[in-house]
Amino acid sequence: MTAPEASDAYDPFEDFNRSAGIGVVDDPYPLFALTRAQAPLVEENIMDNVMEEAGLYDPEKDAVLMAPPRVFTAYTYDAVQQVLRDGEAFSSAGYADVIGAVMGHTILEMDEPEHHTYRSLVQQAFSRRAMERWETEVVLPIVDECLDPAIERGEAELVRELTFPFPVNVIARLLGLPREDLPQFHRWAVELISVGFDWDRGLQASASLRDYFAGVLAERRANPADDLMSTLAAAEIDGQRLTDEEIFAFLRLLLPAGAETTYRSSSNLLYGLLTRPDQLDALRRDRSLMPQAIEEGLRWEPPLLTIVRTASRDVVVEGVEITAGAMVVVNLGSANHDEKYWERPDEFDIFRQQRQHLAFAFGPHMCLGMHLARMETRVALNRIFDRLPNLRLDPGAELPHITGMAFRAPTALPVLFDSGRG
Ligand code: HEM
Repeated sequence: MTAPEASDAYDPFEDFNRSAGIGVVDDPYPLFALTRAQAPLVEENIMDNVMEEAGLYDPEKDAVLMAPPRVFTAYTYDAVQQVLRDGEAFSSAGYADVIGAVMGHTILEMDEPEHHTYRSLVQQAFSRRAMERWETEVVLPIVDECLDPAIERGEAELVRELTFPFPVNVIARLLGLPREDLPQFHRWAVELISVGFDWDRGLQASASLRDYFAGVLAERRANPADDLMSTLAAAEIDGQRLTDEEIFAFLRLLLPAGAETTYRSSSNLLYGLLTRPDQLDALRRDRSLMPQAIEEGLRWEPPLLTIVRTASRDVVVEGVEITAGAMVVVNLGSANHDEKYWERPDEFDIFRQQRQHLAFAFGPHMCLGMHLARMETRVALNRIFDRLPNLRLDPGAELPHITGMAFRAPTALPVLFDSGRG
């Protein structure tokens, strides 16, 4: 598997990165701070060109054909938390229109009580016992496999060699998929979440994944194994089980939810540490700091900046009136930099006072895979520190930057270390 490269005529990774603002949007946080200072929630002005594109505005007649939904963005911690906590006033059903078309009906787009039932079913596959086993049997060997080729070289590009490939490898291994299917599997996953700008390719990838999973699931139903696919097939609550279509939908969600995020969050944490060698040294020497370093990385640069809700009724948030049907963009990144709760919020500081950040969201849809993501990051960093002594950014390479708007990550992390000891 290779990381995104620009040479292909069509490269789903490149296309996706471009649409997510990777390489273009440098640092949106100063602008978020200015907006937060004005209001907790701001109504967006929908431009004529966006209306025209959506078929809602006729420029020749200068006429609005259909009133678009109002769009608000929540910027402060309190506003974001209130929206996410209240799944009754703020529905997740809006995801059905775009991402639901390629994933199927998943827990992401369900409201209560349906959401609770399905989440309880799929959650059975993410037990504490499963997590402990995955750490030693799945995650650790995969991280080591990624690092092995670099050990003798004394230099590496950690995004291409480790943070990009390892989370998707983990999910594939958890599902028990054959290793040789991995590159194709990852490509479909990226095409799936690119549906917003390439509808047909997204639908095609969705159908291909369905057919692919159907074969694997049929095999697991006949011969259950000790893997996530078999657990999902057997999960049961009050006699209710997941249908095949529901399993396919969940699996299609799992890929982008688990791979695109963890790859970026572990890259962002490494970037924070590599560009602040004093904090890198402190963590390397005292691994008990690992949990707070991981949380600070997630707070400082959450990999997924915004999520979306729809107001199911008129509701007031932090004094701002939101009308039924309005779309609410929930800015997790801005909430994580709210100066009401964090001093010097734009600084990466693993020693700061901890409080709950919102990178994994909050409320009923709070990330199902957060313990897995934290464990993967912890294992990856520990192995990097153990096997790449004297790790540092390569001073001869171009200084990397975190970029992006929807998703944020550095595109490369060129490092040097003392070779041959891993
Ligand atoms: C650092 C890594 C991760 C971050 C920052 C992250 C972030 C999020 C966020 C913000 C949501 C809420 C989406 C919404 O309600 O609109 C979410 C939901 C979800 N995440 Fe994660 N995620 C990460 C890793 C993972 C992993 C590793 C998995 C599984 C393998 C996973 C599976 C899910 C699932 C299934 C949901 C839907 C939960 C629901 O709707 O009830 N995530 N994640």
